[in-house]
Amino acid sequence: MSKPLILVGAGGMGRMWLQAILEEPGAELAGIVDLDIEAAQAALEALGRPDVPTGQDAVALAEETGAEAVVNVTIPQAHHPVTATALNAGLPVLGEKPVADTLPRALSLAAAAEATGEFFMVSQSRRYNQQLYTFRDEARILGPAGMLVCEFFRAPRFGGFRDQMAHPLLLDMAIHPFDAARFVMGTEPVSVYCEEFNPSWSWYVGDAAATAIFQMESGARFVYTGSWCSPGRETSWNGQWRLTAERGSVLWDGERAPLTDSDAPVHHTQIPGAGIAGALAEFLSALSSPTSAQWHVARVGSGSLRSWKRRSGLQV
Ligand SMILES: NC(=O)c1ccc[n+]([C@@H]2O[C@H](COP(=O)([O-])OP(=O)(O)OC[C@H]3O[C@@H](n4cnc5c(N)ncnc54)[C@H](O)[C@@H]3O)[C@@H](O)[C@H]2O)c1
Repeated sequence: MSKPLILVGAGGMGRMWLQAILEEPGAELAGIVDLDIEAAQAALEALGRPDVPTGQDAVALAEETGAEAVVNVTIPQAHHPVTATALNAGLPVLGEKPVADTLPRALSLAAAAEATGEFFMVSQSRRYNQQLYTFRDEARILGPAGMLVCEFFRAPRFGGFRDQMAHPLLLDMAIHPFDAARFVMGTEPVSVYCEEFNPSWSWYVGDAAATAIFQMESGARFVYTGSWCSPGRETSWNGQWRLTAERGSVLWDGERAPLTDSDAPVHHTQIPGAGIAGALAEFLSALSSPTSAQWHVARVGSGSLRSWKRRSGLQV
Protein backbone atom coordinates (compact mmCIF):
# COMPACT_ATOMS: atom_id res chain seq x y z
CA MET A 1 0.00 0.00 0.00
CA SER A 2 1.36 3.46 -0.87
CA LYS A 3 2.16 5.93 1.92
CA PRO A 4 0.35 9.32 1.70
CA LEU A 5 2.91 12.13 2.10
CA ILE A 6 2.84 15.90 2.56
CA LEU A 7 5.65 17.72 0.75
CA VAL A 8 6.73 20.97 2.47
CA GLY A 9 8.67 23.45 0.31
CA ALA A 10 7.94 24.06 -3.37
CA GLY A 11 11.22 25.74 -4.32
CA GLY A 12 13.88 24.45 -6.71
CA MET A 13 14.54 21.24 -4.77
CA GLY A 14 10.90 20.87 -3.71
CA ARG A 15 9.96 20.50 -7.38
CA MET A 16 12.50 17.67 -7.74
CA TRP A 17 10.99 15.94 -4.71
CA LEU A 18 7.51 16.45 -6.10
CA GLN A 19 8.50 14.53 -9.21
CA ALA A 20 10.27 11.81 -7.18
CA ILE A 21 7.16 11.31 -5.01
CA LEU A 22 4.88 11.12 -8.05
CA GLU A 23 7.18 8.50 -9.63
CA GLU A 24 7.55 6.36 -6.47
CA PRO A 25 4.94 3.56 -6.42
CA GLY A 26 5.24 3.25 -2.62
CA ALA A 27 4.25 6.91 -2.10
CA GLU A 28 1.19 9.01 -2.78
CA LEU A 29 1.25 12.82 -2.87
CA ALA A 30 -1.48 13.87 -0.39
CA GLY A 31 -0.68 17.60 -0.40
CA ILE A 32 1.95 20.28 -0.79
CA VAL A 33 2.72 23.08 1.66
CA ASP A 34 4.61 26.32 1.20
CA LEU A 35 4.46 29.73 2.88
CA ASP A 36 4.08 30.91 -0.71
CA ILE A 37 0.86 29.18 -1.82
CA GLU A 38 1.31 30.38 -5.38
CA ALA A 39 4.68 28.58 -5.54
CA ALA A 40 2.99 25.36 -4.39
CA GLN A 41 0.22 25.70 -6.98
CA ALA A 42 2.66 26.57 -9.76
CA ALA A 43 4.78 23.49 -8.95
CA LEU A 44 1.70 21.26 -9.16
CA GLU A 45 0.49 22.83 -12.37
CA ALA A 46 3.93 22.36 -13.95
CA LEU A 47 3.57 18.61 -13.35
CA GLY A 48 -0.06 18.44 -14.45
CA ARG A 49 -1.44 17.81 -10.93
CA PRO A 50 -3.38 20.99 -9.98
CA ASP A 51 -5.91 18.71 -8.18
CA VAL A 52 -3.52 18.05 -5.25
CA PRO A 53 -4.48 20.02 -2.08
CA THR A 54 -2.19 22.88 -0.99
CA GLY A 55 -1.74 24.72 2.30
CA GLN A 56 0.61 26.68 4.55
CA ASP A 57 0.61 24.32 7.53
CA ALA A 58 1.88 20.75 7.15
CA VAL A 59 0.15 19.29 10.22
CA ALA A 60 -3.21 20.87 9.36
CA LEU A 61 -3.01 19.62 5.76
CA ALA A 62 -1.99 16.14 6.96
CA GLU A 63 -5.04 16.02 9.24
CA GLU A 64 -7.27 17.20 6.42
CA THR A 65 -5.93 14.71 3.85
CA GLY A 66 -5.06 11.72 6.06
CA ALA A 67 -1.34 11.97 5.20
CA GLU A 68 0.96 9.79 7.31
CA ALA A 69 4.41 11.38 6.84
CA VAL A 70 6.12 14.65 5.87
CA VAL A 71 8.93 15.40 3.42
CA ASN A 72 10.61 18.65 4.52
CA VAL A 73 12.32 20.49 1.63
CA THR A 74 12.24 23.99 3.08
CA ILE A 75 15.24 26.30 3.52
CA PRO A 76 17.68 25.22 6.29
CA GLN A 77 16.35 27.82 8.79
CA ALA A 78 12.88 26.28 8.51
CA HIS A 79 14.02 22.65 8.96
CA HIS A 80 13.73 22.78 12.74
CA PRO A 81 10.25 24.35 13.11
CA VAL A 82 8.67 22.30 10.30
CA THR A 83 10.21 18.96 11.38
CA ALA A 84 9.71 19.44 15.13
CA THR A 85 6.04 20.36 14.65
CA ALA A 86 5.44 17.32 12.43
CA LEU A 87 7.21 14.91 14.81
CA ASN A 88 5.26 16.30 17.76
CA ALA A 89 2.04 15.74 15.80
CA GLY A 90 2.97 12.06 15.34
CA LEU A 91 4.21 12.31 11.75
CA PRO A 92 7.52 10.75 10.64
CA VAL A 93 9.73 13.10 8.62
CA LEU A 94 12.16 12.76 5.72
CA GLY A 95 14.13 16.02 5.72
CA GLU A 96 16.52 17.59 3.26
CA LYS A 97 20.07 18.23 4.43
CA PRO A 98 21.38 19.87 6.55
CA VAL A 99 19.58 18.40 9.57
CA ALA A 100 19.10 22.00 10.76
CA ASP A 101 20.89 25.31 10.41
CA THR A 102 22.72 24.98 13.77
CA LEU A 103 24.05 22.07 15.84
CA PRO A 104 21.77 22.85 18.86
CA ARG A 105 18.71 22.78 16.58
CA ALA A 106 19.92 19.54 14.97
CA LEU A 107 20.34 17.94 18.40
CA SER A 108 16.93 19.27 19.39
CA LEU A 109 15.43 17.43 16.39
CA ALA A 110 17.25 14.24 17.44
CA ALA A 111 15.71 14.67 20.89
CA ALA A 112 12.26 15.32 19.39
CA ALA A 113 12.52 12.11 17.32
CA GLU A 114 13.55 10.17 20.41
CA ALA A 115 10.93 11.73 22.68
CA THR A 116 8.07 11.24 20.22
CA GLY A 117 9.27 7.85 18.94
CA GLU A 118 8.69 9.10 15.38
CA PHE A 119 11.16 8.26 12.63
CA PHE A 120 13.28 11.14 11.30
CA MET A 121 15.68 10.58 8.41
CA VAL A 122 17.87 13.16 6.71
CA SER A 123 18.31 12.72 2.98
CA GLN A 124 21.92 12.74 1.74
CA SER A 125 20.94 12.37 -1.90
CA ARG A 126 24.48 12.23 -3.25
CA ARG A 127 25.00 8.97 -1.32
CA TYR A 128 22.62 7.26 -3.79
CA ASN A 129 25.03 7.21 -6.71
CA GLN A 130 26.00 3.94 -8.43
CA GLN A 131 29.55 5.20 -9.05
CA LEU A 132 29.99 6.07 -5.37
CA TYR A 133 28.84 2.54 -4.45
CA THR A 134 31.37 1.15 -6.98
CA PHE A 135 34.08 3.40 -5.47
CA ARG A 136 33.24 1.98 -2.03
CA ASP A 137 33.15 -1.64 -3.35
CA GLU A 138 36.52 -1.21 -5.11
CA ALA A 139 38.07 0.46 -2.06
CA ARG A 140 36.98 -2.43 0.17
CA ILE A 141 39.17 -5.00 -1.62
CA LEU A 142 42.33 -2.89 -1.35
CA GLY A 143 42.83 -3.43 2.38
CA PRO A 144 42.90 -0.72 5.03
CA ALA A 145 42.50 2.81 3.64
CA GLY A 146 45.27 5.23 4.56
CA MET A 147 43.91 8.44 3.17
CA LEU A 148 40.93 9.73 1.25
CA VAL A 149 41.14 13.13 -0.45
CA CYS A 150 38.32 15.14 -2.01
CA GLU A 151 38.73 18.40 -3.94
CA PHE A 152 35.69 20.47 -4.87
CA PHE A 153 35.95 23.66 -6.92
CA ARG A 154 32.95 25.36 -8.50
CA ALA A 155 31.55 28.86 -8.96
CA PRO A 156 27.73 28.74 -8.94
CA ARG A 157 25.69 31.95 -8.75
CA PHE A 158 22.63 30.81 -6.80
CA GLY A 159 21.11 33.94 -5.34
CA GLY A 160 18.71 33.07 -2.49
CA PHE A 161 19.54 31.66 0.95
CA ARG A 162 22.99 30.28 0.12
CA ASP A 163 24.37 33.73 -0.68
CA GLN A 164 23.32 34.92 2.79
CA MET A 165 24.31 31.87 4.91
CA ALA A 166 27.18 32.24 7.37
CA HIS A 167 28.77 28.93 6.23
CA PRO A 168 27.39 28.13 2.77
CA LEU A 169 30.08 25.66 1.65
CA LEU A 170 30.38 23.66 4.88
CA LEU A 171 26.69 23.47 5.72
CA ASP A 172 25.03 23.35 2.32
CA MET A 173 27.54 21.43 0.16
CA ALA A 174 30.53 19.93 2.00
CA ILE A 175 28.09 17.89 4.05
CA HIS A 176 27.70 15.63 0.97
CA PRO A 177 31.38 14.61 0.67
CA PHE A 178 31.60 14.36 4.48
CA ASP A 179 28.81 11.79 4.28
CA ALA A 180 30.37 10.08 1.22
CA ALA A 181 33.74 9.77 3.00
CA ARG A 182 32.15 7.88 5.91
CA PHE A 183 30.40 5.65 3.39
CA VAL A 184 33.49 4.91 1.24
CA MET A 185 35.88 4.38 4.18
CA GLY A 186 33.39 2.50 6.35
CA THR A 187 34.60 4.36 9.44
CA GLU A 188 33.43 7.38 11.44
CA PRO A 189 35.42 10.56 12.20
CA VAL A 190 36.72 11.13 15.71
CA SER A 191 38.28 14.56 15.27
CA VAL A 192 38.51 17.37 12.75
CA TYR A 193 40.75 20.38 12.10
CA CYS A 194 39.17 22.90 9.75
CA GLU A 195 39.97 26.33 8.37
CA GLU A 196 37.17 28.23 6.67
CA PHE A 197 37.53 31.58 4.89
CA ASN A 198 36.04 33.81 2.22
CA PRO A 199 38.25 34.69 -0.81
CA SER A 200 38.39 38.45 -1.48
CA TRP A 201 36.32 38.16 -4.72
CA SER A 202 33.63 35.95 -3.17
CA TRP A 203 30.01 36.91 -3.86
CA TYR A 204 28.84 35.04 -0.74
CA VAL A 205 28.23 36.82 2.59
CA GLY A 206 29.56 33.81 4.52
CA ASP A 207 32.75 31.82 4.07
CA ALA A 208 32.73 30.00 0.72
CA ALA A 209 36.02 28.08 0.99
CA ALA A 210 37.37 25.56 3.50
CA THR A 211 39.92 22.86 4.18
CA ALA A 212 39.20 20.15 6.75
CA ILE A 213 41.28 17.21 7.98
CA PHE A 214 39.34 14.43 9.67
CA GLN A 215 40.91 11.68 11.72
CA MET A 216 38.80 8.56 11.36
CA GLU A 217 38.21 5.80 13.94
CA SER A 218 40.42 3.49 11.85
CA GLY A 219 43.34 5.96 12.10
CA ALA A 220 42.98 6.94 8.42
CA ARG A 221 42.62 10.58 7.36
CA PHE A 222 40.01 12.24 5.16
CA VAL A 223 41.13 15.57 3.69
CA TYR A 224 38.59 17.91 2.09
CA THR A 225 39.40 21.13 0.26
CA GLY A 226 36.63 23.06 -1.45
CA SER A 227 35.51 26.41 -2.75
CA TRP A 228 32.20 27.66 -4.06
CA CYS A 229 33.75 30.73 -5.69
CA SER A 230 36.39 29.06 -7.85
CA PRO A 231 35.80 29.89 -11.53
CA GLY A 232 37.51 27.87 -14.24
CA ARG A 233 38.50 24.18 -14.53
CA GLU A 234 35.62 23.25 -12.25
CA THR A 235 35.40 19.80 -10.68
CA SER A 236 32.19 17.79 -10.94
CA TRP A 237 29.44 18.47 -8.38
CA ASN A 238 30.58 15.36 -6.52
CA GLY A 239 34.19 16.60 -6.42
CA GLN A 240 37.37 14.80 -7.43
CA TRP A 241 38.52 11.91 -5.24
CA ARG A 242 41.58 9.73 -4.50
CA LEU A 243 41.65 6.88 -2.03
CA THR A 244 44.99 5.34 -1.18
CA ALA A 245 44.97 1.97 0.59
CA GLU A 246 47.35 -0.86 1.50
CA ARG A 247 47.10 -2.65 -1.87
CA GLY A 248 46.30 0.15 -4.31
CA SER A 249 44.39 3.31 -5.07
CA VAL A 250 41.03 4.36 -6.51
CA LEU A 251 40.39 7.59 -8.40
CA TRP A 252 36.91 9.03 -9.01
CA ASP A 253 36.17 12.27 -10.87
CA GLY A 254 32.62 12.29 -9.53
CA GLU A 255 30.92 11.72 -12.87
CA ARG A 256 32.51 8.72 -14.57
CA ALA A 257 33.29 5.17 -13.42
CA PRO A 258 35.99 5.07 -10.70
CA LEU A 259 39.47 3.94 -11.81
CA THR A 260 41.48 1.39 -9.87
CA ASP A 261 44.72 -0.49 -10.47
CA SER A 262 43.46 -3.71 -8.86
CA ASP A 263 42.38 -6.73 -10.95
CA ALA A 264 40.74 -8.48 -7.99
CA PRO A 265 37.07 -9.35 -8.51
CA VAL A 266 34.67 -6.80 -7.04
CA HIS A 267 31.18 -7.46 -5.73
CA HIS A 268 29.09 -4.55 -7.04
CA THR A 269 26.30 -3.38 -4.72
CA GLN A 270 23.22 -1.90 -6.33
CA ILE A 271 21.81 1.45 -5.09
CA PRO A 272 18.17 1.40 -3.87
CA GLY A 273 17.42 4.24 -6.33
CA ALA A 274 19.29 7.24 -7.76
CA GLY A 275 19.61 10.49 -5.80
CA ILE A 276 16.52 11.59 -3.88
CA ALA A 277 14.58 8.59 -5.26
CA GLY A 278 17.01 6.35 -3.34
CA ALA A 279 16.55 8.38 -0.15
CA LEU A 280 12.76 8.22 -0.56
CA ALA A 281 12.87 4.43 -1.12
CA GLU A 282 14.98 3.97 2.04
CA PHE A 283 12.64 6.24 4.03
CA LEU A 284 9.57 4.28 2.96
CA SER A 285 11.23 0.96 3.73
CA ALA A 286 12.48 2.29 7.10
CA LEU A 287 8.93 3.29 8.09
CA SER A 288 8.15 -0.40 8.36
CA SER A 289 11.36 -1.12 10.35
CA PRO A 290 12.85 2.17 11.63
CA THR A 291 16.60 2.37 12.19
CA SER A 292 18.62 5.21 13.68
CA ALA A 293 18.76 8.49 11.77
CA GLN A 294 21.96 9.97 10.33
CA TRP A 295 22.89 12.27 13.19
CA HIS A 296 26.61 11.94 12.77
CA VAL A 297 26.44 13.99 9.58
CA ALA A 298 25.25 17.01 11.56
CA ARG A 299 28.01 16.63 14.12
CA VAL A 300 30.67 16.31 11.41
CA GLY A 301 29.57 19.47 9.56
CA SER A 302 29.14 21.50 12.71
CA GLY A 303 32.36 20.13 14.18
CA SER A 304 34.22 21.63 11.22
CA LEU A 305 32.68 25.00 11.98
CA ARG A 306 33.58 24.89 15.64
CA SER A 307 37.12 23.75 14.82
CA TRP A 308 37.55 26.74 12.56
CA LYS A 309 36.15 29.15 15.17
CA ARG A 310 38.61 27.81 17.79
CA ARG A 311 41.49 27.48 15.30
CA SER A 312 42.24 24.07 16.76
CA GLY A 313 41.39 20.41 16.28
CA LEU A 314 38.12 19.21 17.75
CA GLN A 315 36.67 15.90 18.89
CA VAL A 316 33.48 15.11 16.98
N1 LIG B 1 20.36 17.16 -1.95
C1 LIG B 1 20.65 18.09 -2.83
O1 LIG B 1 21.38 17.83 -3.77
C2 LIG B 1 20.07 19.46 -2.66
C3 LIG B 1 20.11 20.37 -3.72
C4 LIG B 1 19.51 21.62 -3.55
C5 LIG B 1 18.92 21.94 -2.33
N2 LIG B 1 18.92 21.03 -1.31
C6 LIG B 1 18.31 21.38 -0.01
O2 LIG B 1 16.90 21.49 -0.20
C7 LIG B 1 16.40 22.50 0.68
C8 LIG B 1 15.61 23.52 -0.14
O3 LIG B 1 16.46 24.13 -1.07
P1 LIG B 1 15.87 24.92 -2.35
O4 LIG B 1 17.02 25.16 -3.23
O5 LIG B 1 14.67 24.21 -2.88
O6 LIG B 1 15.40 26.29 -1.66
P2 LIG B 1 14.37 27.36 -2.26
O7 LIG B 1 14.68 28.64 -1.58
O8 LIG B 1 14.37 27.29 -3.76
O9 LIG B 1 12.92 26.82 -1.79
C9 LIG B 1 12.55 26.72 -0.44
C10 LIG B 1 11.04 26.79 -0.34
O10 LIG B 1 10.66 26.59 1.04
C11 LIG B 1 9.62 27.52 1.34
N3 LIG B 1 9.61 27.73 2.79
C12 LIG B 1 10.52 28.41 3.54
N4 LIG B 1 10.17 28.36 4.84
C13 LIG B 1 9.04 27.60 4.91
C14 LIG B 1 8.22 27.18 5.97
N5 LIG B 1 8.51 27.52 7.25
N6 LIG B 1 7.13 26.43 5.69
C15 LIG B 1 6.83 26.10 4.41
N7 LIG B 1 7.59 26.47 3.35
C16 LIG B 1 8.68 27.21 3.60
C17 LIG B 1 9.95 28.77 0.54
O11 LIG B 1 8.80 29.58 0.37
C18 LIG B 1 10.47 28.16 -0.77
O12 LIG B 1 9.41 27.97 -1.71
C19 LIG B 1 17.61 23.07 1.43
O13 LIG B 1 17.73 22.46 2.68
C20 LIG B 1 18.79 22.70 0.53
O14 LIG B 1 19.99 22.55 1.27
C21 LIG B 1 19.47 19.80 -1.47
